[in-house]
Amino acid sequence: MPTFEDSDFGVQTPLSPTKKTSNNLNVAIPTNGDASGTVNSVEVPATRSSISDASAYMHNLSLSPSMRDRRGSRNSFGTSLPIPRSKRQSRLSSVHYPEGQPQRPGMPPIQASRDILASQMQDLSSEKVHAAKDMAFVFDIDGVLVHGDRLIPEGKRVLEILNGDNELGIKIPHIFLTNGSGKPEEARVAQLSSILKNPISTEQFIQSHTPMRALADYYKTVLVVGGEGYKCREVAEAYGFQDIVVPNDIIAWDPTIAPYRVFTDEERATSRPRDFSKINIEAIMVFSDSRDYATDMQIIIDLLRSENGRFGTMAKDPVSQRVPIYFSQGDMLCPTEHPFPRMSQGTFRIGLEAMYRALTGVDLERVVYGKPELATYKYADEVISSWMETIHNDEKLPKNIYMIGDNPASDIVGGNQYGWNTCLVRTGVFQGGDNDEENPASFGVFPNVLDAVKTAIRKEIGKDFKFEFNDQINPVLHGNGASAIE
Ligand code: G3P
Ligand code: MG
Repeated sequence: MPTFEDSDFGVQTPLSPTKKTSNNLNVAIPTNGDASGTVNSVEVPATRSSISDASAYMHNLSLSPSMRDRRGSRNSFGTSLPIPRSKRQSRLSSVHYPEGQPQRPGMPPIQASRDILASQMQDLSSEKVHAAKDMAFVFDIDGVLVHGDRLIPEGKRVLEILNGDNELGIKIPHIFLTNGSGKPEEARVAQLSSILKNPISTEQFIQSHTPMRALADYYKTVLVVGGEGYKCREVAEAYGFQDIVVPNDIIAWDPTIAPYRVFTDEERATSRPRDFSKINIEAIMVFSDSRDYATDMQIIIDLLRSENGRFGTMAKDPVSQRVPIYFSQGDMLCPTEHPFPRMSQGTFRIGLEAMYRALTGVDLERVVYGKPELATYKYADEVISSWMETIHNDEKLPKNIYMIGDNPASDIVGGNQYGWNTCLVRTGVFQGGDNDEENPASFGVFPNVLDAVKTAIRKEIGKDFKFEFNDQINPVLHGNGASAIE
């Protein structure tokens, strides 16, 4: 039986495990021999370049030229990102308390005298009160306040201070702006409140997909992708989408669509199959991280290549008949309990873009919400001024806004572009030196969120500002209130 010689393939032996590639790069090749020097396998030269094909298909997070130049149809898809007109996130907003009932973080149980005392302090310090109401904090969540379900301890203390445990006994405005996703706002707020041991309202909370509720006015039947179980269906229902399809509904209708998927009886029983060959899906919304890349990518690609979103068809023109696709955020990586950040929606999207380009020869046009997209920051402004009305009965946008984030490529670049003060913390994605080289934080880099907040408050309200409320001293009885609480 003929056998292969190394010389047949131009392969060097393991004794000289370095060879020149076509790019003249020295690539170390692992040896494949055993201890006796016997070679157990044959190395066949690659006929394809080892350099990724995908790089040519990658897009920045912002509008790509192809979107600007080519597309003006489908509700100006890609040329603008709709956000809700209403400042209120929901008519059914709710506050969540860590123990299920109202508490005053960092302070004794509710007592009428404490409010009187705080208002006396505020009368005596009107300049400080004015400054406290003219600043606001915008908090990133993952990597700043928590890591997944784990508290970053300084995050709890920060919220205590901003909720009134400060020398004025005043609420200093703050909202939460996260690229996180995958569950209804109310559920996520309840979970966060319990981890951070502070009350949080849905009115001060924005997830990556929160502004996408505006899209419910544009599309009736939508495919919603990502998240655990059917939680993103719940999110879309809460946003007012009328006809929501999720990948499980499609697999239950035709399991051959996802050949590698093991579909459980429970999934079958809880899905909502229909004859999708008779339904046009008008848009694709990737709300959260895919839990099954193979299935979700296959279904999304099928739909993008179909005639106007109908399964079982293949569009003759992949551009004019293609349904729009939206992603709730574009982060490449997300810090979790794992020592190294995990891949997030951005990497999933780039994979899809490369697959789509490879299969059709054209670039995929898509919209990406979330930080650092301008629409998300504009929406945050609306939420801040609405929250000001709730806590201080004054619907205005404070002048000095501080974004505190751990990810230069989303939190910081977006905040800088929007003219906010930006603070980068070292408790999450950023692991660099003095500041991020590409997107430096304008207000500086801090070891943690508490240092950032204290520095910002001292700048805006005064170097001597006290970060706790003193219940013992009555400023009226003790003369000058500010000095009475030394
Ligand atoms: O990257 C995904 C998301 O979990 C990041 O959340 O709070 O850091 O914007 P956040
Ligand atoms: Mg973060």
